[in-house]
Amino acid sequence: MGRTPSRYPDGGERPVPQKIVLDCDPGHDDAIAMLLAHGNPDVELLAVTTVAGNQTLEKVTRNALAVARVAGITGVPFAAGADRPLVRPAATAADIHGESGLDGPQLPEPAFALDPRHAVDLIVDTVMAHEPGTVTLVPTGALTNIALAARREPRIVERVEEVVLMGGGVHVGNHSAVAEFNVAVDPEAAHVVFSAGWPVVMVGLDLTHQALATPDVRAAIAAVGTGPARFVGELLDFFARTYRDVQGFDAPPVHDPCAVARVIDATVVRAVPVPIAVETTGTHTLGMTVADFRAPAPAGCRTSAALELDRERFWALVVDALERIGEPGEPPAAVRGR
Ligand code: BDR
Ligand code: CA
Repeated sequence: MGRTPSRYPDGGERPVPQKIVLDCDPGHDDAIAMLLAHGNPDVELLAVTTVAGNQTLEKVTRNALAVARVAGITGVPFAAGADRPLVRPAATAADIHGESGLDGPQLPEPAFALDPRHAVDLIVDTVMAHEPGTVTLVPTGALTNIALAARREPRIVERVEEVVLMGGGVHVGNHSAVAEFNVAVDPEAAHVVFSAGWPVVMVGLDLTHQALATPDVRAAIAAVGTGPARFVGELLDFFARTYRDVQGFDAPPVHDPCAVARVIDATVVRAVPVPIAVETTGTHTLGMTVADFRAPAPAGCRTSAALELDRERFWALVVDALERIGEPGEPPAAVRGR
């Protein structure tokens, strides 16, 4: 076990590296989340699991393995999970992520095979194999796998340190006027996750719309000059075009690495406790995450909403991770600090 720095605004301490399971649907921003988790020394990637969302399960799983090859991730189990939401038909986001789910760069062939387990079993096994309170779940797609894992082995609810998820929002929607894609795709699963009783940090659109890949950010990434950095540059070229054409953004919001950044340093992604419920029946509000700010959060409130991003430090983490990754297969590139 490493240092125990004070990384929480309340002065609380967490051991590093933080052990995480990344449950994702790559997806341009999921890919960058994976690179950040792999390249940052304060995070240990225990497993990567995939869920249908941005594209079909088959496509996002292939994409996850391709990103692993680009990043040089080895020795980490990858497993495929749910191919559809709990109740509703599958929905994809090809308008934002393209037909492959990761349009833009050339995708390499996978370098290793999937773990034979279902993602839900891999999540459960991983949490149960580690000390209670030491594994954080980081879902960056629909919450189907996480909800199923909580049902499959309810003891994980007591055992995980936190669920730090990209999804939802307090004041903003993107799938609808009030609902964010990851929650809207599988609102019943989101309801299970938000109401399970484990600590949930909602890294939603209020926060991630501050993580814009502006030209200065893209220049800093290009300056890293490695294969993985060029890959991220090509991802961002495509993502910038679709976010401009589909949603009118001048620069694309890079959602998913914000959840990883929260695990790395909670002062970069600041959250406040607030009760949050998921709308599962609304005609116009299906998938809305309803945060109740009418009064101070009650004692024992287990949910919180991330509202404030330290943008400079966030992008510095991403660039630093790329520098540390260097050219996979070659000696590590020189890195800043540490
Ligand atoms: C979320 O939806 C997906 O398209 C992205 O990968 C991100 O996880 C943003 O709403
Ligand atoms: Ca995602």
